[in-house]
Amino acid sequence: MRIGTIQRHAGMIDIQNVGKQYSGGTYAVKNVDLHIDSGEFVAIVGPSGCGKSTLLRMIAGFESVTEGKILVETTEVSGPGPDRGVVFQDYGLFPWLTVEENIAYGPKEAGYPRSQVKKLVGKYIDLVGLKLFARKFPHELSGGMQQRVAIARVLANTPAVMLMDEPFGALDALTREQLQNQLSKIQKELGITVLFVTHSIEEAVYLADRVVVMADGAANGVAGNIKKVETIELGENRDSTSVEFNVYRREISELIHGAGHEVRDHA
Ligand SMILES: Nc1ncnc2c1ncn2[C@@H]1O[C@H](COP(=O)(O)OP(=O)(O)OP(=O)(O)O)[C@@H](O)[C@H]1O
Ligand SMILES: [Mg+2]
Repeated sequence: MRIGTIQRHAGMIDIQNVGKQYSGGTYAVKNVDLHIDSGEFVAIVGPSGCGKSTLLRMIAGFESVTEGKILVETTEVSGPGPDRGVVFQDYGLFPWLTVEENIAYGPKEAGYPRSQVKKLVGKYIDLVGLKLFARKFPHELSGGMQQRVAIARVLANTPAVMLMDEPFGALDALTREQLQNQLSKIQKELGITVLFVTHSIEEAVYLADRVVVMADGAANGVAGNIKKVETIELGENRDSTSVEFNVYRREISELIHGAGHEVRDHA
């Protein structure tokens, strides 16, 4: 995809038998194989402590793998890079910069000419619907607005992959729904690859093309937090009142909690 003269790269992710062992022998992640196509929206769900954030942080290059390897396109991940952007639950904006300065930060650092920076800021501030708030500081915005700035700030770096760790976890239900819809639209429009960690099965089914279920290894009687990954292919129907939606929901819930568990969302 072309934005002005800036090329957005394709964002295929290939996770090959990846493991992360901490000193003392604890595995946070083990034997994870996962292929994500460029432009795919994949959600990761699983019990607390099963290694979701660790996996995301390894793809981001914030943490090293101790086994296997991760490729983004043809390049093996060996540290953070501009091809991957990360959005966390706590927005992580620079409080001393305005909305537009926060979004401009990455392109400026990358050395883009001023006209190009302005173009990128204009495009992404518009995309997240915050044009009227360009000169505000983060503390003058609601949580939902701050998270939209954080998303725009990542997108302004034109990454191929956006990694999101419970990005809407701190928002109220209504704001969360608005941001889900906005993200879904943006992802389709840009064709960007999104890997999205969430505790909400409903959110995963609503947003994703595929849902990856990470199981707690310890729950399977295996020592060392060994994980299992189940991938479920989802169809097009995302209407949460539809039969299909609830079949997916139940199927995923059973994979996490075991059969017979009442399906209830804590989003
Ligand atoms: N620095 C560390 N040293 C040792 N163990 C760690 C370290 N960081 C994380 N762990 C362990 O790795 C496992 C996975 O942690 P991780 O944060 O990836 O889980 P998570 O699935 O994101 O959980 P949550 O849903 O609560 O965010 C946990 O058992 C945790 O205790
Ligand atoms: Mg986590």
